[in-house]
Formats: sequence, structure tokens, C-alpha cells
Amino acid sequence: MKVLEAQFAKNFIKCGTDGFKQGWHERNGGNLSYRMTAEDVEEVKENFSEDRELLPIGACVPGLAGEYFAVTGTGRYMRNLELDPEQSFGIIHVDEKGENYRIVWGLKDSRPTSELPTHLMNHEVKKRTTQGKHRVIYHAHPTNLIALTFILPLESEVFTRELWEMMTECPVIFPEGIGVVPWMVPGGRQIAVETSKLMEQYNAVVWAMHGLFCSGSTFDEVFGLMHTIDKASEIWLKVASVTGGKKRQTITPDNFRALAKDFHVTLDERFLYRKES
Ligand code: 13P
Ligand code: ZN
Repeated sequence: MKVLEAQFAKNFIKCGTDGFKQGWHERNGGNLSYRMTAEDVEEVKENFSEDRELLPIGACVPGLAGEYFAVTGTGRYMRNLELDPEQSFGIIHVDEKGENYRIVWGLKDSRPTSELPTHLMNHEVKKRTTQGKHRVIYHAHPTNLIALTFILPLESEVFTRELWEMMTECPVIFPEGIGVVPWMVPGGRQIAVETSKLMEQYNAVVWAMHGLFCSGSTFDEVFGLMHTIDKASEIWLKVASVTGGKKRQTITPDNFRALAKDFHVTLDERFLYRKES
């Protein structure tokens, strides 16, 4: 089967295209990766070529040795994923040491995203902590969340609590909260190390003044998480713009505890601290 006829490729393209329509992917902003199943590989491997050179990942991910990933290209635009898929994304194969990769399909005249170290280090963590369930890592530049990183203290407790308060379903959608990485130079190993440490406990990690990384088992799940967090951020900004930050009423810690009980989620008490408003 041709790669572009496979369901995983269709889902991959839809996810990035939908993100572009949300305004999360200006220019080449954002990137997406998917750890393929053995069935996905079987379906499309007749299209793979071993001709291209072996390149360093820029991180060591032995837990991903031999895995195949669909991944967007560096400098490529999400808005072109649908129009020119073979230029915009490709499939890579990780070597047996987890140190190098080869492009086996697509990424014409391109290479994988500059955030490949973060994507693969996150995948390695999630493969281990979710018993292989999580397969998608999605990085976007969601406008409202980025705006919040100029206003709120860059602390996981604060981001989690403020966003939970903005929509009743938030604590059900991300009960583990969200992690926050302070401003760092993107595209390298250091930011990948910091992000993947937080991915041990969170499925969403904020990059201050930059964007958000989400992890999930399906494209719908990561897109939905990104969407929920950006929408909650938008509500926060609207409420703060009108009220100057002083809400008349809100969801209280006891409301969250009641919600957790009925929805069978565990909400860490460190997010349910007392506050003035
Ligand atoms: P790439 O074009 O290398 O994927 O970079 C985009 C981006 O968002 C960097 O964080
Ligand atoms: Zn980015």
C-alpha cells in the first residue's frame, strides 16, 4: 500500500492540518511525530528505501531501537502537509543503538524537525510509562497558552490550577496537571532532557514564551488535549481582561474534590492550594 493511503498517514496529516486551522502553526511553527505499529510498518514497508545516510539523533534513546516514526520536516509548514505531504513529512527508522536514524520515506530535500531530540526522548519515556500505549507527540504554538506564559508564574501548580478553574472538564481531561519548562533555547538536547523529565508525570508540557508539547495514544487525544488547554487559556485571558483578575465566583478546591470522586480521577492536593480569588 502507498504510504499516503495508509490510515496512520491520513490521521497524521489531518492532525497537523487541523492545528494549522486553529492558528497554532504560523510558518514552520510546531511539529508532529508518531511511533508506528508493526502493522503500520508491514502495510507500507514496500515503499521504504535504505539509500539515505544514517544521521545522529542528537540524543540517545535505546528504548526506541528499531522503531519507525512518521515525523514532520524541519522548516516545513503544517499548512503544506496536505498539499505536499512528501516534502512536509517522512518516515524514519531508529538504529539498534538508539543513536542514529535513517529517512526511509518522504522528507524530500529535508530532514526531521529540529525538535527530534525532544520528540524521541518524550516517546522513550511514554513508551515505558504507558506500557507502549502512547504513540503521538505533538508540538504546537497555541496563541492563548503562550500569552499566559507572560503573565502567570512559570510553575506547574499555578498553570494547572488556573487552567482547571476555567472549564469544569479540564481536570477530567488532564487530571495529572501540566508541566512547565522555563524559557530555554529550543532545538537541542538540553530542552529535550528537561521536557522528557516532566513527561514522566504529565501528558502536556509548556515551553515558556514558545508553545506546548502533548503526548497521547491517538492523534485525536493529543489534538484534543492541545485544544482544551488552549481554550482554557483563552477563557483565562477573557476573564482577566474583563475583571482585572478578580473573579466573582470560581470552581473551588472542594468542587474539584467532588468532581474527582464522581469522575474517578485522582487530583493531587498540591494543585488544590488555598488562594485569595
Ligand atoms: P522545525 O521547523 O524544525 O520543526 O521547528 C519548528 C518549531 O516549532 C521549533 O520549536
Ligand atoms: Zn516550536
